[in-house]
Amino acid sequence: MVQIAPSILAADFADLGGAIRLVESAGAEVIHVDVMDGHFVPNITMGPPVVASIRKVTSLPLDVHLMIEDPDAYIQPFADAGADWISVHVETCPHLDRTLQLIRSCGAKPGVVLNPATSLSTLDEALRLVEYVLIMTVNPGFGGQRFLPYTLEKVQRLRKVIQHKALSARIEVDGGVSLENVPDLVRSGANILVVGSQVFGDPDPAAAVKKLKALAERCAVDSHSLA
Ligand code: DX5
Ligand code: ZN
Repeated sequence: MVQIAPSILAADFADLGGAIRLVESAGAEVIHVDVMDGHFVPNITMGPPVVASIRKVTSLPLDVHLMIEDPDAYIQPFADAGADWISVHVETCPHLDRTLQLIRSCGAKPGVVLNPATSLSTLDEALRLVEYVLIMTVNPGFGGQRFLPYTLEKVQRLRKVIQHKALSARIEVDGGVSLENVPDLVRSGANILVVGSQVFGDPDPAAAVKKLKALAERCAVDSHSLA
């Protein structure tokens, strides 16, 4: 199954509750929360208090994507605030095993994120420790960027590695996801599609979610019948 995870980075911060209710009613399965610290990426967004507030308006899983240096100190606060999934960038974690264990011990699902130019080989050992891998399909820091086409092949290779190792990690993609590239992404093996501007930049975000969902489901069925 392919899940749609709207990124609230592209929503109106003055009405996050309304934005989340809208996409939830349209069938979104996950809410993606981008946390940026102005160090690892050149932008600052939100922290645990925002997660605690949005936790009250939805029962959907909150997928917290930490684009921050030294994430360990913030994992417990985000889990306490209601994060269900927490992902960290391999580029920020010298002790990745410890960090992933920490996420699990806080009761959240651990994920690991790779920047576009970071090799899949950095996951050789860690793949068994995570519930999902987030492949960045743009350089992290901002919404509304153009999808980097070479990342598609990376998703395909990751799917093969996961199958070969008989692991169950899911593949999430994030950045520039649109109706145009969803078919390729799903056929390449993406299971979770993060979508920011294509949803909240649309005058009708609920309709945008429905369109993306229907397209993703059709492509998932296609790729299943080809397999
Ligand atoms: C980028 C963030 C993304 C962003 C995606 O650093 O990780 O989640 O919100 O936004 P779009 O879909 O507009 O590229
Ligand atoms: Zn993100």
